[in-house]
Amino acid sequence: MQHLEGMLRDGALDHKTIIVTGGGTGLGKSMATYFLKLGANVVICSRRQEVIDNTAKELTELTGGNILAVACDVRKPEQIENVIAQSIAKFGRVDGLVNNSAGNFISPTERLSYKAVDVVVDIVLRGTYYFTLALGKYWIENKIKGTVLNISTTYAWTGSGWVVPSAMAKAGVLAMTKSLAFEWADHGIRLNAIAPGPFPTKGAWERLFPEELAKKFSFESRIPLERVGEHQELTNLAAYLISDYSAYMTGEVITLDGGEVLAAGQFNFLKEVTDEQWDAIEGQIKNANRDSKKSE
Ligand code: HXC
Ligand code: NAP
Repeated sequence: MQHLEGMLRDGALDHKTIIVTGGGTGLGKSMATYFLKLGANVVICSRRQEVIDNTAKELTELTGGNILAVACDVRKPEQIENVIAQSIAKFGRVDGLVNNSAGNFISPTERLSYKAVDVVVDIVLRGTYYFTLALGKYWIENKIKGTVLNISTTYAWTGSGWVVPSAMAKAGVLAMTKSLAFEWADHGIRLNAIAPGPFPTKGAWERLFPEELAKKFSFESRIPLERVGEHQELTNLAAYLISDYSAYMTGEVITLDGGEVLAAGQFNFLKEVTDEQWDAIEGQIKNANRDSKKSE
């Protein structure tokens, strides 16, 4: 199964130092793993020191690569600056940033407190623009052609009920991606984003699909390609976007969702029609066309 294999050549990220926020778990951990395999120095950060330390240990043993774990709440600029300073102290410079940290939970919006809205918007939107701003200043000052990859969602475009703070914040992240891609292009700084569909991770799944809901609604049945995503599929795309192979691409948002967002297509309900029914429908339409030509 080729989609389960690494796609870029060995050494594709040699000499690059990449920060992955939320790199201790889920998709962030998978991206960190693949970047290490491709030769990058990787810095992972999140709030829980123990989680990122364990991941760093595991990935060092697995890949033999260089990894640094620094605790950081992305809502706190001074903690972000500390991550950047420690990365430069250890690896000499920083070349890439993956804004992957997020907070989210499902809830009817009218049940949310002000703080509940703030906590999600602050992690997703404020955290992303604080980190991007801090590195952007450093890159411009040091004439480094840095690259940012933002992990968004498909509902940043479509909107979605029951995850409204997340949808608002992720939409802001897309606006930032496109706006800064233009503004910082003459510094050689690129920004792109991935909008993933469902990729099973403990963090997202436990908060978004508690057992009772998971039993009732299956993702597979709503996705045209009839399955959820494999982490390697996302990490292949992420490695390409953070690497120099994508040097001519900026301001782009790539959807990777098995066709899930296409479900809104007006005639897509016709998926239920059987071959026999199509034979009958075709006959009826052709007869109707013949009759209308005769009466002209
Ligand atoms: C209503 C809730 C709530 C819930 C928390 N709150 N959970 N309100 N329904 N289910 C409220 C609390 O009551 C509190 O408000 C406020 O939110 C802050 O809660 P805390 O627990 O104090 O915050 P904190 O410890 O900072 O936790 C942040 C978090 C949490 C966002 C609430 O879920 C978290 O840490 N998440 C990180 C990982 C994560 O979410 N990963 C999923 C990413 S998936 P009050 O007013 O009562 O004090 C994703 C897209 C997936 O983004 C798309 C899939 C297809
Ligand atoms: P996850 O494992 O829960 O990852 C979220 C990470 O964010 C955790 O490592 C968490 O670590 C970190 N984080 C949360 N608050 C933070 C803060 N204030 N400061 C720093 N780090 C913080 O979930 P995931 O599924 O891998 O999600 C990764 C990304 O993919 C997110 O941006 C999510 O929106 C996006 N996404 C996922 C899916 C999916 O199906 N999995 C679909 C669409 C989009 P700490 O708790 O230690 O801080």
